[in-house]
Amino acid sequence: MGMSQIVVTFLVSVCLLFCGIAQAATNEDGSESWGYVEVRPRAHMFWWYYKSPYRKDDPNKPWPIILWLQGGPGSSGVAIGNFEEVGPLDTNLKPRNSTWLTKADLLFVDNPVGTGFSFVEDTSLLVKTDYENAADLTTLLIKIFNRNETLQKSPLYIVAESYGGKFAVTLGSSALKAIEDGKLKLKLGGIALGDTWISPEDFVFSWGPLLKAVSRLDNNGLQKSNSLAQKIRQQLASNQFVEATNTWSELENLISSSSNSVDFYNFMLDEGMDPVSATTLSSGLHQSVALKRYSRYLNSLRASPGGDVDIDGFMNGVVKQKLKIIPKNVTWGNQANSVFNSLAGDFMKPMIKEVDELLARGVNVTIYSGQLDLICSTMGTEAWVEKLKWDGLKTFLNMDRTPLYCGGERMTKGFTKSYRNLHFYWILGAGHFVPVDQPCVTLNMISSITQNPVASK
Ligand SMILES: *[C@@H]1O[C@H](CO)[C@@H](O)[C@H](O)[C@H]1NC(C)=O
Ligand SMILES: *[C@@H]1O[C@H](CO)[C@@H](O)[C@H](O)[C@H]1NC(C)=O
Ligand SMILES: *[C@@H]1O[C@H](CO)[C@@H](O)[C@H](O)[C@H]1NC(C)=O
Ligand SMILES: *[C@@H]1O[C@H](CO)[C@@H](O)[C@H](O)[C@H]1NC(C)=O
Repeated sequence: MGMSQIVVTFLVSVCLLFCGIAQAATNEDGSESWGYVEVRPRAHMFWWYYKSPYRKDDPNKPWPIILWLQGGPGSSGVAIGNFEEVGPLDTNLKPRNSTWLTKADLLFVDNPVGTGFSFVEDTSLLVKTDYENAADLTTLLIKIFNRNETLQKSPLYIVAESYGGKFAVTLGSSALKAIEDGKLKLKLGGIALGDTWISPEDFVFSWGPLLKAVSRLDNNGLQKSNSLAQKIRQQLASNQFVEATNTWSELENLISSSSNSVDFYNFMLDEGMDPVSATTLSSGLHQSVALKRYSRYLNSLRASPGGDVDIDGFMNGVVKQKLKIIPKNVTWGNQANSVFNSLAGDFMKPMIKEVDELLARGVNVTIYSGQLDLICSTMGTEAWVEKLKWDGLKTFLNMDRTPLYCGGERMTKGFTKSYRNLHFYWILGAGHFVPVDQPCVTLNMISSITQNPVASK
């Protein structure tokens, strides 16, 4: 076989891998790759992978990979998680010194399809349940991991924020099944749930008492809040899930008006008082109160010093130019309303049972919670954790916590405790966006969760 034949064969096999299945690209030095996977016919999921410059391929200490899952549902991990929270560059394209890339390779995905750069060719292809999304994500992992033995040696840690927690636990069980069935070549390292929407009922019941305790509501506000939370409980008990989503929206409105607009992502702030949130509300986005919450979710992230980020212009401009493969008619948006609406029936459903299943199967589950978050409050998180049926729970609850410090400061930055495969971190001084608010202690935590082979300083 001549040299030219070999080259042709190589190209054909590359084409078998990519053509029609996935469209992918790599940067010049091979440290980044990205692409689309057609997870179902005419449903295209976009991913972006960063190889850590610190990656070591030591078989005894495998280098970890983190899959970051954003919330919403419908907000873009490729933009928010990547450029605003933990990726190597910020939205000014300046290096982020607290990037998690120092501890792991990073994989960002715009999921569910319809979010960010991911797209569907027909809106009937949007997912209606978290499990449908988990199936799509599993297909994506099969396409990315099965063809690369280096990646297969790296344990994958699924780290989720907000609604992403529901994607993480459903993906966890879906991926484990695919691994058992021999369809997915991957080692699941663990799951981390950062301020995640695992039990909406527990969160809505926490809002009134928490805000009353910190003087942001009075007794009248507390009573009204609790009565709407009761209504949500009844609706959930009678499987009225869409109605429960509507009452949730009503409750958020009530809390806003009774508290003079507390920020749902940090109860020490007022909504819209952070430096940048006022600048970026795009018109036409807000058809309902519920969706306003999501633009607020994204806008509260603009609280970075220096502010004024035009994220739409950034993603559709310089980022799209760099990536090259984004179809011309796909426009990045900060919150895909169609994706949220399509999941309205799942939005208020709990996922406690799914966390229990992962614990029972021995998967390492880490929960971390920002002290100042309201929407996924620590109080609500502790309430759903106490509902776990896991047989280690009682011991876990009775254990004492260890204080956390960071960067040579004397001040307590948080607490942690672990029992068997359940780990909990309380992060002080952080709202919903824990890595943004407390980068130092969060980075140490990530190093510990992923058992990063390079000892932390
Ligand atoms: C990262 O940058 C911030 C602000 O620019 C600074 O306060 C912090 O000390 C830096 N951290 C490290 C580890 O260099
Ligand atoms: C973009 O345009 C192509 C053909 O021009 C079409 O097949 C595709 O469905 C369009 N995609 C979207 C997301 O509208
Ligand atoms: C597999 O992944 C590693 C680590 O990111 C990368 O260096 C390598 O180029 C990949 N191989 C292929 C065939 O894509
Ligand atoms: C879970 O994490 C601990 C360290 O926190 C580690 O020793 C253990 O091997 C992990 N278990 C699994 C199944 O990955």
